[in-house]
Amino acid sequence: MPTGGLTGRSAVVTGGASGIGRAIARRLAAEGAAVAVLDLDEAGAAAVVAEIERGGGSAVAVTADVADGASVCAATGAVHAALGPVHVLVNNAGICTFVPFTDMREADWDGMMAVTLKGAYYCTKAFVPDMQAAGWGRVVNVSSLAGVKGAPRLAHYAAAKAGLLGLTKALAVELGPEGITVNAIAPGLIDTPLLVKSGMPDSIRQSSQRELPVRRLGIPDDVAAACAYLISPEAGFVTGQVLGPNGGAYM
Ligand code: NAI
Repeated sequence: MPTGGLTGRSAVVTGGASGIGRAIARRLAAEGAAVAVLDLDEAGAAAVVAEIERGGGSAVAVTADVADGASVCAATGAVHAALGPVHVLVNNAGICTFVPFTDMREADWDGMMAVTLKGAYYCTKAFVPDMQAAGWGRVVNVSSLAGVKGAPRLAHYAAAKAGLLGLTKALAVELGPEGITVNAIAPGLIDTPLLVKSGMPDSIRQSSQRELPVRRLGIPDDVAAACAYLISPEAGFVTGQVLGPNGGAYM
């Protein structure tokens, strides 16, 4: 059952059908928010909504491609119709592929930028006006450890995720006077379907488990907890920050 810190708030979680986004959507709903689970994956989003409803929370599934402005525009209408004005946006939708830089095609680069950076641009443009009208809002951008320190075969991913950190800091400065905080999360390796889909070599998983100070991969709830903190009423003095649930990958 919802516990209350976000009662009366509406939240949009992009990429909410799987992995980290699913955990964030469930967590925000458990804290009382009405959550729009926005994803390309219609069936996956519906399944997360059903999970949230079974737990006594409130949610709606919205199918959209964050990389497509017209799709985000249609989704914005659907979210407003279902939940009214939005107070919380988590830009989490993402893709990942491992490609050596010399083999990286322009389409790999453009596709990564479209989902990660342009997606955050479209969604933030769509929902920040609601937060400005309310004089309160929270934006959390899900970046990556790769965007902070780089990673081989992930030049496109690291560049896009580093771009999200710039977006975070610029908007934190610009929107702070209006009661809106903007923060980023830069997770380390988190055990989600993305790791399999990305073609990540198994050696990376094994070396992480062996070498990380906490001796395990992250789980989606590790990231959801960080996100819930940044969104909580108590975090109103925290903005433009990058929180790193990464098991101590770097210090
Ligand atoms: P996931 O693959 O389990 O979930 C990603 C979700 O985003 C999927 O439901 C997918 O359908 C959705 N999505 C992808 N492209 C979309 C689009 N164009 N429009 C709408 N929805 C779209 O992946 P995971 O691991 O949960 O990743 C979530 C975020 O966390 C991503 O931004 C990822 O880059 C980031 N991240 C993940 C890490 C990991 O180790 N799993 C580490 C650091 C960051």
